[in-house]
Amino acid sequence: MIGTDIQKAVDFLKQGEVIGLPTETVYGLAGNALNPDAITKIFKVKNRPRFNPLIIHLPNIDALTQYAMIPSEKILQLANRFTPGPLTFLLPKRNNIPDLVTAGSPRVAIRIPRHPLCQAVLSKLDFPVAAPSANPSGYISPTTAQHVAQQLGSKIPYILDGGPCEVGLESTIIGIEDENLVVYRKGGISIEAIESVVGEVAVNTHSSSNPESPGRLSQHYAPAVGIQIGNIARLLPDKDPKKTGILSFSTYYEEVPRTHQYCLSSSGNLDEAAQNLFKGLRYLDNIAGLDLILSELVPEEGLGRAINDRLRRAAAKT
Ligand code: TXA
Ligand code: MG
Repeated sequence: MIGTDIQKAVDFLKQGEVIGLPTETVYGLAGNALNPDAITKIFKVKNRPRFNPLIIHLPNIDALTQYAMIPSEKILQLANRFTPGPLTFLLPKRNNIPDLVTAGSPRVAIRIPRHPLCQAVLSKLDFPVAAPSANPSGYISPTTAQHVAQQLGSKIPYILDGGPCEVGLESTIIGIEDENLVVYRKGGISIEAIESVVGEVAVNTHSSSNPESPGRLSQHYAPAVGIQIGNIARLLPDKDPKKTGILSFSTYYEEVPRTHQYCLSSSGNLDEAAQNLFKGLRYLDNIAGLDLILSELVPEEGLGRAINDRLRRAAAKT
């Protein structure tokens, strides 16, 4: 059931249930991080491998320090500048975080979301909320309550509807190794924005199936229809226009019916493109009769870097 009742969402979470929860990035599949039954339900509903750990969500920095250590002044600077917001910190965990949540790792991923409904829910709870993106493992992340309902609606009692997600891409994940900041997943806070606060950071998002490597499974965010990335105009002549979908940055193509095309931002705005990316992939994936989606990369700057990362992982399946 979809609704806007904050108290209902709070009550379900207190009872150990798992619900759909809006954040500014994507919708989460939320449960009490301190309740082993709730955590087990999250892994089951998502069909997620147990070795893939969960991000926990808290209302503010004070709450964060109850569950993790802040090992560096730079992390604190980033937290002060970008939270609440789409930045996740990978930090040494305290003993009160169950190993089930971190898949046995000594580090826990924590974020402080800024979506007002999510903030309202978190501030009424005395436990942290674990929430991976609310999609079946490996599929496109949901950016509306309806997306969650379409795939997981029959498995969970409630989805709190906070409208379409403002950012549209998952949070950026950052941690520290030997005093150096490392970005493990590109996301809603750009590398440029991070570097404007703490100087140069390392980026290590290489694909891996190793649980120490957050969000880096090479094949991910994938629609059922295959994706090919390249120069759309050049790739089109070999394709059957009736069976081809197009996900473009800012143009439409005459060779293909308009209904088979999704343009991320007609004005070429990267923030808007990020907002629309997962919606566009879902739209094309639901058109009957397509056997291929052609797509192109966007400029490699700002949120464009995270968009390109998701496109490459979506295409890695084909
Ligand atoms: O924006 C977001 O971060 C969304 C919203 C719902 O908050 N959540 C999200 O969660 O994207 P999820 O589970 O779909 O992606 C989190 C990634 C996973 O790839 C996981 O492997 C990694 O973070 N991760 C979580 N905890 C970790 C840990 N302790 N150590 C290493 N990687 C971790
Ligand atoms: Mg996910």
